[in-house]
Amino acid sequence: MIVDTALWSSLPVPALLLDADDTIILSNPAAESFLNMSAKSLSGQRLWEKVMIDAPLEAPFARARKNRTSLFVNDVDVGGGERPPMLCNLQFAPLQGTEDAMIVMISPREIASRINQNHSSEKAAKSAIGMAEMLAHEIKNPLAGITGAAQLLSMGLSPEDQEMTDLIVEESRRIVKLLEQVEQFGNLRPPVLKPVNIHDVLDRARQSAAVGFGAHMLFIEEYDPSLPQTIADADQLLQVFLNLLKNAAEANKAGGAIRLHTFYDASLRVHRSDGTQSRLPLQIEIIDDGPGLPPEIADDIFEPFISGKENGTGLGLALVSKLIGDAGGWISVDSVPGRTVFRISLPLAPKDIQTGEN
Ligand SMILES: Nc1ncnc2c1ncn2[C@@H]1O[C@H](COP(=O)(O)OP(=O)(O)OP(=O)(O)O)[C@@H](O)[C@H]1O
Ligand SMILES: [Mg+2]
Repeated sequence: MIVDTALWSSLPVPALLLDADDTIILSNPAAESFLNMSAKSLSGQRLWEKVMIDAPLEAPFARARKNRTSLFVNDVDVGGGERPPMLCNLQFAPLQGTEDAMIVMISPREIASRINQNHSSEKAAKSAIGMAEMLAHEIKNPLAGITGAAQLLSMGLSPEDQEMTDLIVEESRRIVKLLEQVEQFGNLRPPVLKPVNIHDVLDRARQSAAVGFGAHMLFIEEYDPSLPQTIADADQLLQVFLNLLKNAAEANKAGGAIRLHTFYDASLRVHRSDGTQSRLPLQIEIIDDGPGLPPEIADDIFEPFISGKENGTGLGLALVSKLIGDAGGWISVDSVPGRTVFRISLPLAPKDIQTGEN
């Protein structure tokens, strides 16, 4: 075979080699683990039967093979075996030196989008918040005038007409409440960073969710008890978890399960646009089994004022994204119907300030 075995098995990207009729001849270890299937069970099978690709690609693929050209397909859901589909970019390329063999490479989008998304939305959040704060301040005064006038008017009115003035007063109150939320959002104090046991904070969030907005949900803890401490502002971290739990509970009004999953992944490193890079090995996932992100807003959920709910302010995730950014962490999301995962990646507390208890 023309393929260099060492090179092939070291490729960190899931890759498959196909022959003329899309039969899988070879799969590398990254593909085995991505598809959750052994090389043996993949080999000799047709690609389309083993790998779920949510796009009609057989024809364009046949054309690429015939013309010996490459084909790039972005943003398709790819799944297989037990694995739920995940947003990926696909590359098909002819294997040089053969007449019809093709290589398929599957690049999951999660890491790439995490790196783009966070930065731009943080900046957008800052300017939108400044603008909103100013507006909030400006709207509150005339609104107080409107409410006062409606109350004065109501005194001389018949009960039916009073319903109208009551409506004015009530709706104005609702606007004031919303504006106060916006103002509070702008007034965040700078974080007080200390070593924090993530599980303590998660427990506090879970307890308060379980007796309040999440009373209809089942909470499942999957903690890695050996997880070292992070460095963060515990109160702000609590706010982050509460917001994510609240969204998960609201996504599943009829009841469902929320999994709190923590684990260590030393390989995650973030390269920031200012050239610095940092290690974020502590992973916290909040996973729900609700319907998933509404597709029309899925790309913008971290932006302020983007909401898929009738009464949502759309500030929850913008706040989460800002707080996690301030703490030097990353947030990413992977969502398909039935499984939505918000993952927060945080830095380790430096060794010399870990408090010993863990
Ligand atoms: N776990 C989830 N499952 C499905 N959709 C979600 C989930 N989390 C967030 N969303 C979607 O993202 C939107 C934005 O969430 P965000 O928390 O920013 O605002 P909100 O929940 O609408 O309002 P607020 O948090 O201010 O009450 C939600 O309205 C919802 O449509
Ligand atoms: Mg919310």
